Amino acid sequence: MPLFVPGSSAEEIAVRYRLERVINLSSNESPMGASPKVREAVTAMADRLHRYPHDGAPRLRQVLARQLGVWPEEILVTNGSTEAIQILVDTYAIPGCEAVLPQHSFVAYARACRVAEVAVAYAAMKDHAIDLDAVAAAITPMTRFVFLANPNNPTGTVLDRHKLRDFLRNLRSNVIVVLDEAYREYAGHAVEDGLTLRLHHPRMVLLRTFSKVYGLASLRIGYAVGPPDLIGHKNSMRDPFNTNALAQAAAEAAVLDQEFMHQVVVWNAKARGQLQRMLRSIGLTPVPSRANFVLVPIARPAGPVVEAMARRGVMVGSGTSSGLPEALRISVGLDDENRFAVRMLKEVLEEIKP
Ligand SMILES: Cc1ncc(COP(=O)(O)O)c(C=O)c1O
Repeated sequence: MPLFVPGSSAEEIAVRYRLERVINLSSNESPMGASPKVREAVTAMADRLHRYPHDGAPRLRQVLARQLGVWPEEILVTNGSTEAIQILVDTYAIPGCEAVLPQHSFVAYARACRVAEVAVAYAAMKDHAIDLDAVAAAITPMTRFVFLANPNNPTGTVLDRHKLRDFLRNLRSNVIVVLDEAYREYAGHAVEDGLTLRLHHPRMVLLRTFSKVYGLASLRIGYAVGPPDLIGHKNSMRDPFNTNALAQAAAEAAVLDQEFMHQVVVWNAKARGQLQRMLRSIGLTPVPSRANFVLVPIARPAGPVVEAMARRGVMVGSGTSSGLPEALRISVGLDDENRFAVRMLKEVLEEIKP
C-alpha cells in the first residue's frame, strides 16, 4: 500500500545539490502566495502569541457558515484537511469494515485506513479519471467509506456531475462518502459544488483546505462539512487546540478576500494552459487537468527523472506513490519557473531514455 511521504523541502534540495535556486513544483502549492489581507491578520496576532487559540475555531466557523450557507455545527476545522481524513476514519471505522478508493488518488486516504486498520479496495480508473461504475462495483456490505477527490490528485481530472449525482443516489445510505474538494476552486463550473451534492446522500462529508488556492499550506488549516451528528461526533475526537491562532486568523482573512482567490484561479488557468502547451511541445501528452498541477506520463520510471530534475534545481512530483510509477506530477509555477522546468525536463528525458 502506498504511504504518504511528504517531499523534501526546497532548502534541503539546495543544500544537497549545492544549488542557488530551487523551484518547487512538487507539492501543488500556490506560487501566488496568500492575500495581503492575510498578512495583515497574521501580523496583528504577533502580540497574542502567549494565548491559546480559540478551541474549535468558532469565529472561522461562523464566517465559513455564512459564506457556504450551512450551520456552524456542520463544520469541523482541522489541522489541514488531512487531519479531517484521519479523524473521520478513526471515529467511524468498525471491526472488519472496508474503504473503497480510486486506484490513483491522494495517498493520505490509504494511509488513514492503514493507521485505523481499515481494509482498502481499489477501484480501477479509466483514462486517468475516476470511474464511478468501478467504484460502485467495488462496494460490498462491509464498505464503510468511499473516498473521491474532485478534482482528483494526482490526475487533475474531474467527475461528471450527472454520474456523480446518480452514484450518490444509488449508494447505501450508511456508507460515508468523503468528497475531497481540495482543488475545487481551480475547476470552477467544471465541478459540481459538493454543497449541493449533499442533497443526494445523507452521509456525505466534504473536505476543503486553505493550503491550495488560498496559499496557506504552511499554517495547516482545512475543514470538513457534513451532517451535524457526524461532525459533532468527529469534533469530540479531535485535540482541543488542533488548529493554531495564526492559522484561524489567516483563514478568516482569506475567506473574506474572495477577490484575491478569484485572481489566483484566473491566473492559474492561464499558466496551466501554457504549461500544458510547453509539455506538448517537447513531445509529452499531459492529462487534461482542472487543478493547479498536471500529470504527465513519461514512459519510463519517474524516480530517476525526479532525481535528475532535482539536481538541476527543479522539484517535481512522482506518480509512484499513487500507483503511477511512469508519470510526473508537475505543479503550476510562475511563468519563468514553468519555462525553466520544461527546458530541464527536455534535457533530462534526452538523457534518460525509455
Ligand atoms: C486531494 C487532496 N486533499 C487534501 C490535501 C491536503 O491538504 P491539507 O494541506 O489541507 O492537509 C491535498 C494536498 O496535497 C490533496 O491533494
